Amino acid sequence: MSRKLRTVVVGLGRIGWDYHVPMVRSHEGFDLVGVVDPSVERLAEAKERFGTAGFADYLAALTAAKPDLVVIASPTLFHADQAIAAMERGMDVFCDKPIAGSLEETDRMIAAMRQTGRKLMVYQPHRTSAYTVAMLDLLSRKPIGPVYMMKRAVSAYVRRNDWQAFTKYGGGMLNNYGAHYLDQLLYVSQDKPRRVSACLRAIATRGDADDVVKVLVETERGLILDLDINMATSATLPSWIVMGQYGSIEFQEADKRFRVTYFDPAALPPMEASDTLAAQGRKYPGEAIPWQEEFIPLSLYADRDFYLETYRYFALGQPPFVSVEETRRLMWLLGECRREAGAVGRCPPGI
Ligand SMILES: NC(=O)c1ccc[n+]([C@@H]2O[C@H](COP(=O)([O-])OP(=O)(O)OC[C@H]3O[C@@H](n4cnc5c(N)ncnc54)[C@H](O)[C@@H]3O)[C@@H](O)[C@H]2O)c1
Repeated sequence: MSRKLRTVVVGLGRIGWDYHVPMVRSHEGFDLVGVVDPSVERLAEAKERFGTAGFADYLAALTAAKPDLVVIASPTLFHADQAIAAMERGMDVFCDKPIAGSLEETDRMIAAMRQTGRKLMVYQPHRTSAYTVAMLDLLSRKPIGPVYMMKRAVSAYVRRNDWQAFTKYGGGMLNNYGAHYLDQLLYVSQDKPRRVSACLRAIATRGDADDVVKVLVETERGLILDLDINMATSATLPSWIVMGQYGSIEFQEADKRFRVTYFDPAALPPMEASDTLAAQGRKYPGEAIPWQEEFIPLSLYADRDFYLETYRYFALGQPPFVSVEETRRLMWLLGECRREAGAVGRCPPGI
């Protein structure tokens, strides 16, 4: 990697400090030339730990550090303005998810990208996670038939009390986790959303933003994508099930494995539907399906390196790993979910 990307990381919080700064520092294609955060304590910590120049003022950082690439890991409401300011100054932008707070902001970012001729890509880590790599591989190899539905769920009980708990800061679990999982479902299905319905509730959160999210998407090809993000339950929901006409693939998160079940449709005897109005022999339908069952450990797969994909796009001129067209579609979908759901509901009176 002969070309080193002079890189500034903006926002030294959970994802900036724990992920982006270490990745930029450890990848040979990147050179950390500055960090930005309004917190002087965090800047001092960065100076002491990495000897990195720190800036409380974002624009001053761009002027002084002259980066090739700006990695934006600040709270979501700053993404659009920070990204546009960087691109207008001739810098490329790698932005954490969600790329912005709305489709309108996303469109402003994409317009700036086109006007300035700069590059823009969002970080969608679930695309490179081992379990997504595995799901794509299993879908290409296992005979579950045409896929008609994917159910994805994440559940916990969390009394959220940081900025992500507030609508005014672009928080809420639809924006936060929905930006991951809706992207993941669209990425794996290689499809586009056609219509959506959604419900949003604020149940365990200390703020006003949604922490219970139910989304149903129908894709252009007719696939059903069913997403539960529930941060207000003790129940463990099945993490990810992909259903095909002749079988299914389940990711069993607790056991770190996939359960694949399928049958050969040619192995079933012929069967005609009967349209008489008296069920034959007073029998309910039911037959033994010759299921094949396999368990595949997640350990057979590894995470892909997102920063390598980032380098390929920003330094080597390869196509983006996440295109702005896909990002725009995701942001449209998040907006449609909000529009469909209406106001975030509180817990209804007990039954
Ligand atoms: N891809 C992922 O897996 C992932 C995980 C966590 C967060 N995120 C995203 O990353 C972003 C940051 O989230 P977080 O959880 O790290 O937040 P955080 O609250 O942990 O950290 C935010 C940091 O940004 C700083 N900050 C505040 N205002 C700023 C400004 N105007 N300019 C620069 N820095 C500013 C804060 O001082 C803090 O250090 C959000 O958009 C979030 O959705 C992505």
